[in-house]
Amino acid sequence: MSLRIAVVKGDGIGPEVIPEAQKILEHFLTDADFFEVELGLAKWEKTGSACSPDDIRELKGADAIIFGAVTTPPDPDYRSVLLQIRHELDLYANLRPIRSLRPNPDGSFVDMMIVRENTEGLYSGIEEIGTERSTTLRVVTKAGSRRIAEKACSLVLKRNRNHQLVIGYKGNVLKSDLLFRDTCSEVASSFGIQTKAVFIDALCLDVLQHPNNYDVIVTTNMFGDILSDVCGYLTGGLGMLPSANIGEKYAFFEPVHGSAPDIAGKGIANPVAAVRSAAMMLEYFGMKQQACLVEESIADLINSGVCTPDLGGCESTSSFGSRLIAVVCKKEERKI
Ligand code: NAI
Ligand code: MG
Repeated sequence: MSLRIAVVKGDGIGPEVIPEAQKILEHFLTDADFFEVELGLAKWEKTGSACSPDDIRELKGADAIIFGAVTTPPDPDYRSVLLQIRHELDLYANLRPIRSLRPNPDGSFVDMMIVRENTEGLYSGIEEIGTERSTTLRVVTKAGSRRIAEKACSLVLKRNRNHQLVIGYKGNVLKSDLLFRDTCSEVASSFGIQTKAVFIDALCLDVLQHPNNYDVIVTTNMFGDILSDVCGYLTGGLGMLPSANIGEKYAFFEPVHGSAPDIAGKGIANPVAAVRSAAMMLEYFGMKQQACLVEESIADLINSGVCTPDLGGCESTSSFGSRLIAVVCKKEERKI
């Protein structure tokens, strides 16, 4: 049976970058059936719902989902589409590779993986909103910490580098983080992996100063969200960072960035984060070689100055996408 891929463009630059990612997917997944699901602010304005139960059912019917970005409307009753999807599909692991495609001045490349717990923490969605006092419950469970730690440890072994797992936490202030840290340490020791627990604020600076000291970092939900945007600095900005949201049954691939209303509609958004997210989907389907080919092709283009304005170039979103497909095809021909 052919693969069923759900395509969610969303709002802002989502509809600009996702077609470029879809081109790559269509190139490699020639038999796949692509179907669009409309979600986000535009849909909310039309129908009063940004993501309905029917939409969730459609997403669950896909073998994988490629997603652009959605804008959060200014309404206190609005429920975040992404939180809803991550909870409904139980996408507990958010994998955010931080890999530079351009060499650092010393010739090295940044290559680390942030493994962000994706269903608990401060994004549990359990909130009481009042006019004088509002609270958000930060949930850390043993089971939730264990499964994300297991995912992180399996990645440490797969990447086969320094065999150390860094735990980003803030246990001096948030006692709930001690459960997270201790559970991650227990799991790691059962895998034979050493751990180093680092306070998240210090970690945000140290990853920038010494990125090559890091391999896999596991952390709670909001810390992982912030840390990965911080790490965008190491790779050329938010237009470069892809991610995968993985659960037991479903897989959802999206750029780390949001809908970027400041540049939406101008045709200048960098599609690389979305295309790299598509490459992560290929890898998820066992097509590692094809995923590497996409990464190499992006690197070739960027290193020869072919890039969108955020990286100092003058390509449009779609002209970069077209040139990328051309490089991919050329590389394939050379390999045959
Ligand atoms: P953002 O990631 O959309 O933009 C931050 C900055 O990065 C902007 O200056 C933007 O122009 C730039 N940028 C982002 N992606 C880019 C790309 N591909 N190429 C070139 N430049 C790029 O974050 P912001 O401004 O905080 O949020 C805007 C909207 O997006 C909000 O409504 C927010 O709720 C939503 N959002 C959605 C996310 C998602 O759907 N996964 C994630 C983060 C924010
Ligand atoms: Mg974010």
